[in-house]
Amino acid sequence: MNSFLRIGIAGLGTVGSATAKIIQEQADMLSHRCGKQIEITAVTARDKSKNRKIDLSGVKWLDRPMDLATDPNIDVVVEMIGGEDGVALELVRASLENGKHVVTANKAMLAHHGAELFALASENDKILAFEAAVAGGIPIIKAVREGLSANHFSAIYGILNGTCNYILTEMWQNGLDFETALQQAQDAGYAEADPSFDIDGVDASHKLALLTALAFTGDPDFDKLETEGLRSITALDIDYATELGYRIKLLGITQNTEHGVIQTVSPCMIPETASLASVEGSLNAVFVDGDQVGTTMYVGAGAGGSETGSAVVADIIDIARGHRWQHKPYVETTTYAPKEARTGKFYLRLMVNDVSGVMADVTAILRDHNVSLKSILQYGHSVEESVPLVLTTHETKECGIRDAIISLRKLDSVLTEPCLLRIELLD
Ligand code: HSE
Repeated sequence: MNSFLRIGIAGLGTVGSATAKIIQEQADMLSHRCGKQIEITAVTARDKSKNRKIDLSGVKWLDRPMDLATDPNIDVVVEMIGGEDGVALELVRASLENGKHVVTANKAMLAHHGAELFALASENDKILAFEAAVAGGIPIIKAVREGLSANHFSAIYGILNGTCNYILTEMWQNGLDFETALQQAQDAGYAEADPSFDIDGVDASHKLALLTALAFTGDPDFDKLETEGLRSITALDIDYATELGYRIKLLGITQNTEHGVIQTVSPCMIPETASLASVEGSLNAVFVDGDQVGTTMYVGAGAGGSETGSAVVADIIDIARGHRWQHKPYVETTTYAPKEARTGKFYLRLMVNDVSGVMADVTAILRDHNVSLKSILQYGHSVEESVPLVLTTHETKECGIRDAIISLRKLDSVLTEPCLLRIELLD
């Protein structure tokens, strides 16, 4: 038995550096746990001179990431470059083809190319591990794939983006504006290289596509996701949520319904008493509904170097132990529900002129689209300036209220882009 597992790391950013640090600083513990010495044999990164506070003396620096794929002294390639395709995708393909195991945190690549890459891993009898790609340090992939393997699943949902949760928490707790909160999240190393991936919900959607594949469809299909981010949320909506007894959270929800799979990422109002409402800052939380076990909940750090590095190292340990699993998850269904099948309760905030007849115009449009109202709030009085008009609905067809918004936008009295949020009455 080879007593060394030789690692090559491509990319020494926040997570790559943290992974190297854990491997070096916890060497004794890790070798005890997996029965092998984990050795960083080679690394590759854009900037060799950067001080990463890790000791890389004795580690081979390669000029090109692709050199890792062909290096005969490497057993496992750790891909920490990121990006949907380009170098990361080429490296992972070549590494698997050359008989190397791969560990990656790259949810964008897997959400778009997962079907191909998992098939390639199976063909080559190599592991393609991605615990760090979903929910940072929470071992949710292992939980769904292994701990809950006796279950059929009906839904997986939760907070899947640390940056968005941090921003929403800061806006609610400390009254921070959106930009300041985002800057703080970037400074803390939570945000993606392009933070629009976080705030537009794309990062959470990448993760949700992987959970959908694991629980229901076998392969990820990013194009079958509905994604909305945080840009429509203002301080006003945070205040109204509080007034209505809700909190706003960016939720990823995938569920296997009678019409097929529905997967959405969007900001939602949830009761302030719901368990997810108390998940603050950069924490993530994932709920899994299984037919044998019921609901299980997982909470922990969703972003950050050492937190995500913890998941990367756990995958390396699995490989060192010789752990194997089916790359193609069990397929429950490959049907996705049509948009028309989606229903929900909604919060709708309009900025309107405070003049007579506006309420009648607004409610007439909602009536014409079969949207039944639960409550209406309008405070303040200003003829010249706009006032918020806040409505909540009973259960209604989502396409109905979205069509209604198209008509509402055309009213002269509706002054800015309406804000529509789902209300999810979670426990
Ligand atoms: N940018 C991501 C987040 C990091 O904020 O959750 C982990 O994917």
